[in-house]
Amino acid sequence: MFVWRMADLLIRKPDDWHIHLRDGAALKLTVPQAARQFGRVIAMPNLRPPVDSIEAARDYRTRILDAVPSEYRNRFHPITPLYLTDRITPSVIEEAVKTDYIKAVKLYPAGATTNSESGVADLAPFYDVFEAMQKHRMPLLIHGEVTDMQVDVFDRERVFVERQLHPLRERFPELPMVLEHVSSKEGVRFVEIHERHTAATITVRHMLLTRNDIFQGGLQPHHFCLPVVKTEEDRQAVRAAAFSGKPCFFAGTDSAPHARHKKESACGSAGIYTAHAAVELYAEIFDEEGMLDRLEAFLSEYGARFYGLELGQEKVCLVRTPWTVPDSYDMGGDELIPFRAGRSVSFRLEEDR
Ligand code: NCD
Ligand code: ZN
Repeated sequence: MFVWRMADLLIRKPDDWHIHLRDGAALKLTVPQAARQFGRVIAMPNLRPPVDSIEAARDYRTRILDAVPSEYRNRFHPITPLYLTDRITPSVIEEAVKTDYIKAVKLYPAGATTNSESGVADLAPFYDVFEAMQKHRMPLLIHGEVTDMQVDVFDRERVFVERQLHPLRERFPELPMVLEHVSSKEGVRFVEIHERHTAATITVRHMLLTRNDIFQGGLQPHHFCLPVVKTEEDRQAVRAAAFSGKPCFFAGTDSAPHARHKKESACGSAGIYTAHAAVELYAEIFDEEGMLDRLEAFLSEYGARFYGLELGQEKVCLVRTPWTVPDSYDMGGDELIPFRAGRSVSFRLEEDR
C-alpha cells in the first residue's frame, strides 16, 4: 500500500464531468488514463455518428467499459449523455431517465466545435424536449458559443449568454443547465446569478492560459481549443469561480485528444488533451493560489451533488513530487501531444488502496 506523508493531500477520488474519450483504438489510451484520475466521467457524445439514441449511448458505454484495464474494472463509471439532434424527443427523455448511464443531454450549436455538424441551429423546436427534461430534472449540458460569423471568436460565449441562455433560463426556470467549459467573465456571471439550477464546468486550460499563449513566439496549435482561451480578465474570473467554494462550479477537463497531424496542420483541430495529468494540474493551480483546502469539493463533491449522485468512496493521494510529462503518447497508432508535453508537473497522483 502507498504510504502518504502529512505534506501530501488525501482526497476523495475526483470525477470528470466533461471529457472526450473518443472511440475505437483511441479508447486504449484515453480510458486507462481517465480511469487512473477519475472514478466517474461524463463521456461526451460528439462521435461520428453522434450518440443520439438510447442504444447508441448504451453501446458507447459498453465500448468504454471494454477498454477499462483490469485494475480499474468496476471502479470506473462512464456516463454517456445524449447528443441533442432531431432524433431526441420527449419520449426518448422518458426512456433515458430510466437508465443509470445517460443522465444528461448535450447541446451543440451546429458548427460550434469538433463534430458538431449534427448540432442544433435553433432551440425553439426542442422546447418540448426541454420541458420533459425540466420535469425530470435532467441537466442540459451546453456548449455555449454562437456560430454567427459576424461575432468575433473571443465574444462568442458572451453573445451566446445574452442571446440564448438568458431567454432559455426565463422560459425554463428549473431546467438544470451546465455551461460547459466556462471561459468568460460573462459566462461566470450568468452561472452565479442563476446558481440554483445552473452550474459550470471549469477546465485546466481556462485557468492557466490566455489568448497570448496561442501566439507565444509563433502559432501554438496545442493551445487551441473551443471555447478559445480569452483575456487575462476572463482567466481571472474563471479562476475566482473555481476557488470560490461555490457548488455551482466544478471540474470538467474537456480533455479532447486529436492526433498530432490534425493539430499541426494548415487547419488545426480544436481541443487540448489533459486526461494524463488533469487532477495533478488542478492541484498545482489550487496550491499556487493557496486554495488546496477547496480542491476536494471542486474535484469530487460539487459535481456529484449537482447530478444528484452519491459521492465516490475511493481515495487518491496527491503527492508533492515533480514528474515530467511525456513528449507524446500513442493514440491508436497516431502520435498525440499532451498538455505540458516534456515539462514538469509538481504533483503526482497515487492510489490509496
Ligand atoms: C472538443 C473536441 O475536440 O471534441 N474540442 C474542444 O476544443 N474543446 C469539443 C468541445 O468540447 O468543444
Ligand atoms: Zn468538450
